[in-house]
Amino acid sequence: EKGGYDHFMLKEIYEQPSVIKDTYRGRLHANEGMIKMAGVEDNIEKFTNAHRILIIACGTSWHAGLVAEYIFEEFARIPVEVEYASEFRYRNPIITDKDVVIAISQSGETADTLAAIKLAKEKGAFVFGVCNVVGSSISRESHAGAYTHAGPEIGVASTKAFTTQITVLTMIALRLAKIKGTLSKTEYHTYLSELEMMPEKVQEALLTNEVTKEIASVYKNASNCLYLGRGYNFPVALEGALKLKEISYIHAEGYPAAEMKHGPIALIDEQMPVVVIAPKQGHYDKVVSNIQEIKSRSGKIIAVVTKGDEQVRALADHVIEIPESSDPLSPLLTTIPLQLLSYHIAVMRGCNVDQPRNLAKSVTVE
Ligand code: M6R
Repeated sequence: EKGGYDHFMLKEIYEQPSVIKDTYRGRLHANEGMIKMAGVEDNIEKFTNAHRILIIACGTSWHAGLVAEYIFEEFARIPVEVEYASEFRYRNPIITDKDVVIAISQSGETADTLAAIKLAKEKGAFVFGVCNVVGSSISRESHAGAYTHAGPEIGVASTKAFTTQITVLTMIALRLAKIKGTLSKTEYHTYLSELEMMPEKVQEALLTNEVTKEIASVYKNASNCLYLGRGYNFPVALEGALKLKEISYIHAEGYPAAEMKHGPIALIDEQMPVVVIAPKQGHYDKVVSNIQEIKSRSGKIIAVVTKGDEQVRALADHVIEIPESSDPLSPLLTTIPLQLLSYHIAVMRGCNVDQPRNLAKSVTVE
């Protein structure tokens, strides 16, 4: 049932090209320049009239929410706030009937997320669920929703749920952008085609398996690790760090790269591996300066770069090359080698990859 893979996690990492396609199939029509999602179409006015979108989730789903925040604001120009469900539900939040709440949950059973959407409904918000498990509590409790079609995710460390959540949320943002006219025609069509191409690019990003394995063998005994990214890739840094923590038990922190000098830079010495997400699109030059700062403090640099990159290669101890993409869609690619890196490190440390200690697949108690 692991399909020839040693662990469910690895199988699920490798399923990403096909499940991203499953997730957009029948919804994304790049040639016709259309996105059709029933749950969105049936409630289109709720979305277009929304004063803001509140995204509520936990863990990896919350990271997908952070990526979506940047995508929604950039594409559809709707203000977005992203909140941990556990914080939201206990702080008497301001919610009105002009708010659209998007709850993201792989399992659809996370107790805090479920309680948060019940609260949002009581306050009159429209609640849209993005769940993977069909018929789950959150999908039933939501007014409408869109499923991710990732298939069953068995590994406790979430991988394919994350990339399919981003796929669904990107499609919603593009749909709204079309109605609102917030992207130029060219931009809109380019993003649609690019999203359609993503399964192939993710497939290519999976070729980083070998290099991540080599890097894993060098750093498997590290006791700390820092992950840095900017913009769309800041949440990917958080997600990379979470993956490493939960399955390898190495302490890891994700930071927006520019925040490094506000504290974490003090941790950097020759013992500290720093994973830097530095694709060509985005804030490349800024990230290059951050890399120089790490280098001058003798930190070990593992950089995720766009294929053919030379500038970062000259500075980094290790480079991991991924295919080129636009900045907003890059998280679907940059996250792949980080999943593989944590997987290989965990395996080399003899950890129980699919069922890490103290963790449950769905957190049904608060
Ligand atoms: O099922 P959900 O998406 O609601 O789960 C949320 C978190 O519990 C989950 O993402 C958790 O952080 C994973 N173990 C991360 O890999």
